[in-house]
Amino acid sequence: MDTLQTVLLLIAMVATMVDSHDYGDALTKSILFFEGQRSGKLPPTQRITWRKDSALRDGFEIGVDLVGGYYDAGDNVKFNFPMAFSTTMLAWSVLEFGKSMNSDLPHALEAIRWATDYFLKATSIPGFVYAQVGDPYGDHKCWERPEDMDTPRTPYAVSKQFPGSEVSAEIAAALAASSMAFRPIDLGYSARLLKRARMVFDFADQYRGSYNDSLGPWVCPFYCDYSGYEDELVWGAAWLFKATKAQMYWNYVRENIHNLENASLNSIEGGSFTEFGWDSKHAGINVLVSNLVALNASDSTPFISNADNLVCSVLPESPTPKSVSYSPGGLIFRPGGSNLQHATSLSFLLLVYSRYLSKANRVIHCDNMVAGPARLVQVARRQVDYILGSNPLNMSYMAGYGPKFPQRIHHRGSSLPSIDQYRGQIDCNGGTQYFNSNNPNPNLLTGAVVGGPDIKDSYSDSRSDFVHSEPTTYINAPLVGALAYFKSHPS
Ligand SMILES: *[C@@H]1O[C@H](CO)[C@@H](O)[C@H](O)[C@H]1NC(C)=O
Ligand SMILES: *[C@@H]1O[C@H](CO)[C@@H](O)[C@H](O)[C@H]1NC(C)=O
Ligand SMILES: *[C@@H]1O[C@H](CO)[C@@H](O)[C@H](O)[C@H]1NC(C)=O
Ligand SMILES: *[C@@H]1O[C@H](CO)[C@@H](O)[C@H](O)[C@H]1NC(C)=O
Repeated sequence: MDTLQTVLLLIAMVATMVDSHDYGDALTKSILFFEGQRSGKLPPTQRITWRKDSALRDGFEIGVDLVGGYYDAGDNVKFNFPMAFSTTMLAWSVLEFGKSMNSDLPHALEAIRWATDYFLKATSIPGFVYAQVGDPYGDHKCWERPEDMDTPRTPYAVSKQFPGSEVSAEIAAALAASSMAFRPIDLGYSARLLKRARMVFDFADQYRGSYNDSLGPWVCPFYCDYSGYEDELVWGAAWLFKATKAQMYWNYVRENIHNLENASLNSIEGGSFTEFGWDSKHAGINVLVSNLVALNASDSTPFISNADNLVCSVLPESPTPKSVSYSPGGLIFRPGGSNLQHATSLSFLLLVYSRYLSKANRVIHCDNMVAGPARLVQVARRQVDYILGSNPLNMSYMAGYGPKFPQRIHHRGSSLPSIDQYRGQIDCNGGTQYFNSNNPNPNLLTGAVVGGPDIKDSYSDSRSDFVHSEPTTYINAPLVGALAYFKSHPS
């Protein structure tokens, strides 16, 4: 072997070493993160111990128990629309990849149950669905720990007169998906979730409208429904079909999918077949349905062709028009904030769709290029590895994973001294000095994945730069499934 070959071999070895990640460790941490986002009365089993009970009177002023659920990100509002999507994705992660979770599976189910217990409360009064708790303007102008919040915890509901089909149908999807996750271990709970899912879906479908119009500035611009509510209705029906096998839900999916069909590549309105996240469910519907109709050609239109087109629009080597950009370091980008949500949710879809392709013994044709299931897995692995540290900065974007990770995440609880460190109240403006400090956050929010680097692969690790430094539940939730897959397929 000559010197050049030795050097090349060494480089290859280093590259392999850098690329091999402890997916099991990352999986454990990605689930642990949800404990840091808990609202309500924490159980004795709580493992993120710097967090304490908070918001114990949510809903009491109107005589409804709305205690529990999750803070969506670095603030202390309970936004049920993205919370429900994160729950659906956690449940989908368990349904697809739960077998690879081993000792993490009970924790994943606990993370789901923390949300579904809350959604049962938020939908307990027929004809109403609670959409949010906490005045977002009051919350956002303060930098306070959830444990000593003194901002208005206003509950917001949609109703027959003031409908919100997107938030209601997404909660129905979350309940239906979760009912399947619980079926093997708690039949009674599973049945309760499914019954409620059907009821909430009926409400969403019967009283149609966007919560944009019903709740106005309380939800926009925070989690404004840009893509309309039709996608959540079809998504909810698809999950109910998967959970019940009732033909009526399948008919609903078939009859209503055409409301989404005309949305073009990259359009926001209507949610194009390339869109998947807390707002648009379109791409998720096609991938979910592909696994339901895999053996029935007459049912596969337009779902399979749209899912194929989604994959073609993501694969870097595809000659067809792209719906994503890639940074020089190889990370997927889409416009808007919290970019890693796109990397995690698209990776999840690629993995699920690769399983369908394998089962159906199919490949995808992107014009003259052909991609098989292994290629989809490879692209997803590249994204996950990037997040875990295989990137130009050698930086993990998951707090507490690897030797180098974000130190100043935009997160109130993580950045303020914990109750154990400081028992007094830190009021609305009392947190400002900590917000402005250059010190690392005192509390490690283990497993939190932040918005991520910019499109040039740089990251400033700045608390005020929430677009890049804020973690959210919907960045982590699809990653839980992807990490479980790679844990059992480490190379
Ligand atoms: C929701 O509100 C935003 C901002 O006002 C708007 O762009 C969007 O079209 C609205 N969506 C629906 C479904 O009304
Ligand atoms: C979609 O586009 C086709 C062709 O332009 C049109 O006939 C159809 O009505 C459109 N559907 C919807 C739901 O807008
Ligand atoms: C395929 O779909 C058609 C139309 O929905 C249905 O009648 C038929 O029973 C399905 N076949 C299978 C094998 O599921
Ligand atoms: C990242 O790691 C590689 C391989 O160890 C090294 O060559 C490179 O200089 C590192 N880059 C940074 C920014 O630390």
